Amino acid sequence: MRTLLVDERGDRVVVRLHRPDARNAIDAEMVGELHQVCGLLEGDPRPLLLTGGDGVFAAGADIGELLLRGRDEALQGINSTLFERIRRLPMPTVAAVDGYALGGGAELAYACDLRVASTRAVFGNPEPNLGIIAGAGACWRLKELVGEPLAKLVLLAGHRIDAAEAKDCRLVSEVCEPAELEARAHALIDRMAKASAAALRLTKLVLDAPPQAHPAVDHLAQAVLFEDPEKHARMQKFLDKGAS
Ligand code: COA
Repeated sequence: MRTLLVDERGDRVVVRLHRPDARNAIDAEMVGELHQVCGLLEGDPRPLLLTGGDGVFAAGADIGELLLRGRDEALQGINSTLFERIRRLPMPTVAAVDGYALGGGAELAYACDLRVASTRAVFGNPEPNLGIIAGAGACWRLKELVGEPLAKLVLLAGHRIDAAEAKDCRLVSEVCEPAELEARAHALIDRMAKASAAALRLTKLVLDAPPQAHPAVDHLAQAVLFEDPEKHARMQKFLDKGAS
């Protein structure tokens, strides 16, 4: 791949956005390559660690390409379709954000299940300054993540959320020095990897189910897991430990 560095491991996949000369701006080629990563993770579900470069996560959609797009391309939802696919990946996704996550870069991070940030992280959606809306998820996801008042400050008034504020509003789960960022994101995935993969996968599915699907979807997921040999093994191990 030309715009991504992909490190495929047994228990996770690490993807680094890699267009350093364009501050990792998300162009059509990167969109295509991220779709390939989604295909990989849908076929062989593993957690995803998504990161950027030193001091920049992604500076948004590629403005040179956006300039040339018209109504038909907007209706295709090129970035929003990709980000929704990432949101629906079977296993958890973690964005590790160092530096700028702006526009589509911020929306890509918002689409992940969890975010960890360096002290240099800055989230923002300056799209109205370019004469467009943040059309790939920020207008609804950011409100869900941080609440309407702060989302409106970002989307309507160009407010940028720095690392400290991102931690305060729980947009990111932790903040660390840039040099520690990747290790902290891996540590988060290590914690997840201790759980049953099937339980993790179904927990994500149930968490993201629409309100009207509950509690039926919870019961169905539990019915699948109650019959899973791994549940028996894990529970028996716990009970045996108590008895010894
Ligand atoms: N799309 C296309 N190219 C971009 C880009 C984007 N979103 N963001 C940065 N670039 C390019 C610049 O055009 C420049 O290219 P050049 O070297 O050929 O001139 C290169 O990346 C470096 O950008 P520069 O602005 O010089 O870097 P910086 O470190 O001074 O500033 C940012 C970094 C992120 C603050 C700044 O690039 C920026 O504001 N980018 C646009 C953010 C934005 O509006 N995003 C929303 C898009 S929907």
